[in-house]
Parts: sequence; C-alpha cells; structure tokens
Amino acid sequence: MAISQLSATEKAAATTLYLMPVPTKITHSAGEFRLHADFQIQVTGAPDERIYPAATRMLRRLSGRTGLFFPQDFITAADNAKNADLKINCKRPGKVELGENETYVLTITPEHINLNAETDIGALRGLETLLQLLSADANGYYFPCVTIEDEPRFAWRGLLIDVGRHFMPVHVIKRNLDGMAAVKMNVLHWHLTEDQGFRVESKIYPKLHQLGSDGFYYTQEHIRGVIKYAADRGIRVVPEFDVPGHATSWLVGYPKLGSKPGPYEIIRKWGIQYAALDPTNENVYAFLDQFFGEMAALFPDPYFHIGGDEVEQGKHHKAEHWNANPGIQAFMKKNNIADNAALQAWFNSKLVKILTKHQKIMIGWEEILHESMPRSIVIQSWRGAEAMVSAARAGFQSILSRGYYIDLIQPTDFHYLNDPLPPDISLNAEQKNLILGGEATMWSELVTPENIDSRIWPRTAAIAERLWSPQHVKDVDDMYRRLQSVSMQLEELGLTHEKNYEMMLRRLAGSANIHALRTFVDLVEPVKRYKRHSLNKNLTSFAPMTRVVDTARPDAQVARIFRKNVSAYLNAGNKTIAERLQADLKLWNENHDELSMIIERSPVLAEIEPMSKTLTQCAEIGLQSLSALRDKRTLDKNSIANAKRVLAQAKKPVAEVELMVVSGIEDLLEAAGK
Ligand code: ACM
Repeated sequence: MAISQLSATEKAAATTLYLMPVPTKITHSAGEFRLHADFQIQVTGAPDERIYPAATRMLRRLSGRTGLFFPQDFITAADNAKNADLKINCKRPGKVELGENETYVLTITPEHINLNAETDIGALRGLETLLQLLSADANGYYFPCVTIEDEPRFAWRGLLIDVGRHFMPVHVIKRNLDGMAAVKMNVLHWHLTEDQGFRVESKIYPKLHQLGSDGFYYTQEHIRGVIKYAADRGIRVVPEFDVPGHATSWLVGYPKLGSKPGPYEIIRKWGIQYAALDPTNENVYAFLDQFFGEMAALFPDPYFHIGGDEVEQGKHHKAEHWNANPGIQAFMKKNNIADNAALQAWFNSKLVKILTKHQKIMIGWEEILHESMPRSIVIQSWRGAEAMVSAARAGFQSILSRGYYIDLIQPTDFHYLNDPLPPDISLNAEQKNLILGGEATMWSELVTPENIDSRIWPRTAAIAERLWSPQHVKDVDDMYRRLQSVSMQLEELGLTHEKNYEMMLRRLAGSANIHALRTFVDLVEPVKRYKRHSLNKNLTSFAPMTRVVDTARPDAQVARIFRKNVSAYLNAGNKTIAERLQADLKLWNENHDELSMIIERSPVLAEIEPMSKTLTQCAEIGLQSLSALRDKRTLDKNSIANAKRVLAQAKKPVAEVELMVVSGIEDLLEAAGK
C-alpha cells in the first residue's frame, strides 16, 4: 500500500519514511533494527557478479553516513558469515535489458534484514530502498521494521543527457548514473550527436569526431567504460545518433552526405538548423550501414535511437535543404513521395532494414511515426501526448517525454503529475501495454558540467517516482517533503546540484561573504521554456554559463515555501505562519544594502541590481499587507493601486531571471484590500 492510501495512524508511521520512489506495498510493524558496529552482509543464491561491488558500495555509504567502522571490507561470494545481519538472496543473474525483473521483497525485523529478489537487479533496487530507510535518534541509527514488496509500474524509466550541445565528460555521466540508480531509473538515453557536436570516436569514419567535435568526444574505450558502469547499476544505455536532421556536425567531415553542397561548419548558436542528410543519395545508406554497424557493436542494448526530430517538414520551415535541392525534388516526383514527411518515412524504412541487419530495434522521436513503418519501432513522444495515443492506436510501442523536459525549468510538481498513462486515457488494455514508460530530457543548450546536475536533480527523482510507483501515489506535498531528503542523499554520490550553488555564488561575489547574494538568488528562477533565447541573443555554445541565471535553481525552494505559507496563512490565519512571513519579508526588505555592496565589487552582478531594488519594494508591500491583515485594517485604494503597479512591473524578467515571490505578495495585497 502506498503512503497516500494508509489510515491515519499508519500514515503517521509511514510519513516518518523518506522513500522515493514510494514502493508498491509497505507493511509497517513494531520496532526497529538497530545498526551496530559489527553489521555484516551476506549474498546468497545465483546473482550476477555485479551484486558484490554493489553491496560493498552500499556498506560504504552506510558506514559513511553513520561513521561506524564496520569490520567487513569488500564483499565477495566467499563471504559466508552465518549470522549476517543483511542477507541478500537472488535467484538468478539479471540481464540489463528492457523488461527484466526488478522486483524485490525487503523485510526488516529487530534481528535481521532480508532482501529477496528474483534477480540481482531487483536486489540493487532494494538496497537503495534500504539506504533511504536509514533513520536516527538519540540512541543511534536504525531501520524501521517494515516489509516492502516492490515492483516498477513502467519498464522504461530513463534520463536523456544531451552531450552534443555541451559536451559532458565521463565523470559527469557516471555521477548521474549513480543518481539514476538511487531513484531506480534504468535507461540512460545518451544523445551523442547534434548540429553542435559529434561526440563519439568512429574508427571507420574518423572525420566524424575529428572534425565534428572541437576535440570534445568520447573514445570507444570511454564509451565501453560508461556502459559497464551503467550495467553494474542495472541501467541500460541507449545511444542516439540523430538523423537525418540535427546532423550538421556529421557534414563537417563528410559534406557529400548533405542535401546542400557545403562546406559545413559546426554550429555555435541555438535553435533548429535544417542541414540534413540527403535521403536520395545511396552513399548515405552505405555510410550509415557501416557507421551504425560500428556503433551497434559498441552499444550492446538492442534499442538504437535514430533521432528523426525537426527535419524540414511543413510550410513554416525554411526551405533550404530538402526543398531547395532539385535532385531531391525530382526524386520525390519520380517515386510519388507526396511531402517531406513521406520522404522521411522513406528514409526511415531504409534505416529499419540497416538496423535489423545489425540486430537493433529502431527508436526515434515522434516524427518517425508513419503508417508505413513496421510495428517493431518505438516512438518517443515529445511535442504532445497525442503522439503516444496515436502511436498506441496504430500498434506502436512508445515512451513519453512530453512533460518531462527538465531543461525548461518548470516546477517539480508539473513533471510529477505528468502521467504516461493517466486514468482517463482512451486506450484499451492492449494499447496501454504498448506504453513502455518515459524519459526526462536534459537538453544542454544552457548547461555545463558545472550546473547540469542542478537542472537534473532533484526534480528527476520525482519523475523517477512517477515512472516507478503506483499511479495513485501523487500527493504533491508529500513528494516535496521526501524530495528534500532525497536531494541531500544524492549528494553523497558526487552530484553537485546542491554544493555547486554556493560555489557559483562565491565566484559571482568574488568572496566567501555571499549571505545577501544567496538571500536574493534563493528567490529567483531562470525564465521558463525557451524564453532565455529570445531575451539574450548572445547565448552560444561558448557563452559563459556562470551568471545569476545559471546559478539560480529551478523550483526555488525558499520562494515556493513562501508562496505556500502565504496561502496557508490566508486560509487559516495561523500566528506562527504570520511570524514566519513577517521574518521573510523583513529579511528581503533589508537585503539590498548589503547586496549592493557586493555588487559594487562584482560587476558581473550589476545586471541583477534593478531586481534587487524591486525585491525591497515588493517586500515592503508584503509587510504593509501583512500588517493590515493582522490589525484587520483595509489598505486604502490609492496605495493598493500603486502597489499593484509595482508588483506587475516586478513580474518582468531581469537578466533572464524572474522573482518567484511576487505572486505570493500579490495574494497578501489582494487579501488586505478586502
Ligand atoms: C526534440 O526536443 N527536438 C526531440
């Protein structure tokens, strides 16, 4: 049973837990297993070898959190302590493939912990649950007594990392794989090629990485290392080689594959480019056959992503490549190819044959959906959930990414409530089975290795829960409560979403004294969706990603809690909450003097000075409204009208950030006017 379905007493017990994703079924019992200094682990059954280092890592994390010096060093199959405290039993080796059994049963009694799983991959999921259960009181550390029976709702629970637009070194990928494993995600979708960069070494066509990457690419040895690291955590790696569009970087070294004569240069700016492979050129297929063959041998997963998004389709697209090429136009006429969508389907059907020959299953963005395609391919929906529904109705398997675009800086609850299979979806049972799961997408126009984690985490943990936990688990407040604790636990894996915040603030301030700067940046978020690109025309692949907008985090917690406190106060008039609001507003009202001293020494911060002044004014309005509400006075019409003007102005972005407390202050003002 999930927390949201428990009775009041059970809920009281369950809410002391910080599990994310919430398991399928939790049964609470009395007591706890007290962690002691001679805690030991034993693995039995017939697991894959990956379980031993995984159990060792778990033991080290437990030791790291508790400071206990456990006697056990490195866990191996030879460890057979008869009285081990944690017994892990797996029936068979798990295969890192779609649909593998990930179920586990975790039983904690005061004397023992048993983790039973069909496969070692299920056991890995259970070990993460156990780590999340670690609790503490004045007597030490313990695990509460529970029985957890758990299994995923969806088989495909992925994170896309785009390394084409901004290259991400191997260590960035690895720490994110650890984060994924911690929240039971099981697919890394590695977006390896873009107009801005070709990131894989090809031994057959070396000009791909030599001329298409500025020197920022993975060697095949790097790739094998990442795949092994992922497999050790029960995570599949699905590579994406985006064709025929998003392919400028391929054409730098091999311009003859393109639909225009070339030469081509690596793209430095953002926005859709229309350079595309020429689908009428037989050499393109010979090239892809060779190259995909090389990559098919490098990447063991049967699924192979060919992109397929945003090719020259429809009237609104610039007719530069396919439409302006007389050879392509003549070819279409001769072969009765009605439009560019049909031309792309023609291209894709040849790709399916190539991939089938290399024993791969084709997956691509929703633009590859076409009646003529074989039902073996998988559709990834990104523009609308309709693509998934029509894919399922037409008999295609699909995964959902629409609503999981974490690069767009939307709040966690927006992603959390986005369900691949909402209760009202109009599909029959068979069609529903075609929906495999979903993927968060970390497109990398506006991130570097320094701040990418802060765009992925902790929000992706909530998406992980949506894809793993039962459908009815959707209490937003409870999600946020647990997310805070999970976010800190993710730090122990080397993720930088929390710690780089202060580092980036220190660099901006040129000083360790960041108090006033932090107070301000805690209240702002980057503008949403694609707005930064319209506000700033200087954003390129070599632009600085170190400003306040790059430091500020999505779903700013301090601002969110303020807005929540405002609505709680306006609903119930609670005195403690009023005092909290008063303290917040006073702090913000007085922040500017100290911040302006920092800004004087730090020209990089000059761009946010106007918003810092605005914060002073907004906080003043908040204080006056709060005081009127407490004294049961009504604010006069004139000052309300003035205040409204100030707040309307305060909603406008400055330096690509927006102030996230204005709507809360508006609510206070509104109430004070009644
Ligand atoms: C995409 O966002 N172009 C798949």
